[in-house]
Amino acid sequence: MTTPSDERERREAVLLDRVLRSFDDCADPRLREVMLSLVRHLHGFLREVRLTEKEWAAGIAFLTAAGDITGPKRQEFILLSDVLGASMQTITINDEAHGDATEATVFGPFFVEDSPRVPIGGDIAFGAPGEPCLVEGTVTDTAGRPVPGARIEVWEADEDGRYDVQYDDDRTAGRAHLISGDDGRYAFWGITPTPYPIPHDGPVGELLAATGRSPMRASHLHFMVTAAGCRRLVTHIFVRGDELLDRDSVFGVKDSLVKDFERHPAGTPAPDGRAVGGTWSQARFDIVLTPEGK
Ligand code: BEZ
Ligand code: FE
Repeated sequence: MTTPSDERERREAVLLDRVLRSFDDCADPRLREVMLSLVRHLHGFLREVRLTEKEWAAGIAFLTAAGDITGPKRQEFILLSDVLGASMQTITINDEAHGDATEATVFGPFFVEDSPRVPIGGDIAFGAPGEPCLVEGTVTDTAGRPVPGARIEVWEADEDGRYDVQYDDDRTAGRAHLISGDDGRYAFWGITPTPYPIPHDGPVGELLAATGRSPMRASHLHFMVTAAGCRRLVTHIFVRGDELLDRDSVFGVKDSLVKDFERHPAGTPAPDGRAVGGTWSQARFDIVLTPEGK
């Protein structure tokens, strides 16, 4: 990489200054602040790496390909934001610690509205292949009071590493919602989470391959919890001992979200009397919701 001459540096600075001043008449102060910072960082990046025209064209081709593959069922730009850590950084900036409230993590692309409702203790697997797993806990507020009537959405990949929406047969499996009881308690059967790759058959997958990165996510189970008077919580729980915990492709792991999934040998009676048949696991996840507006 060549060091630019003083004259070239001067011209680059003049251009940057002209671009920054083009926002002088922006009536929205926040938009102006965001755009000025974006332009400063963008020019800083271009100048720091001394971007070649060929590299600039490759970048444009990459973004064009991301746009081409994006549609109602695929959002490549969010995936890009995820693998660059921008999604988690935005969550980290906005999810200010509030007492012992449960931490948030990435949403991901596999949430589906109108999931089936199951009763407390019901089975969200709906035939998804995998080892049965009992998840139990409470929903409380940061004062420790039970939150009854919270809507708990859960969704997860099957043991073959696929969400129901990744099959082309319109199945609904590995997802449901349930409502916490009067004492804030909830419980459901799902399947023990296993690792799976994020969609990597598009430009983001090519980027990961070109940079020697894996598309694999640490094993997890998604939650979205909503309740009156509380901030919506989007999070996952992860499996303690999973070898991908420190290499999650979207940087979603937080220590507080790593849970023990206790494995039980075949024949161990389940607490609710379910005849499981083989091995099964059991996890506890107590959910603490932040008050709305905090
Ligand atoms: C997921 O966990 O479902 C996910 C999150 C980010 C990108 C792709 C998938
Ligand atoms: Fe996921």
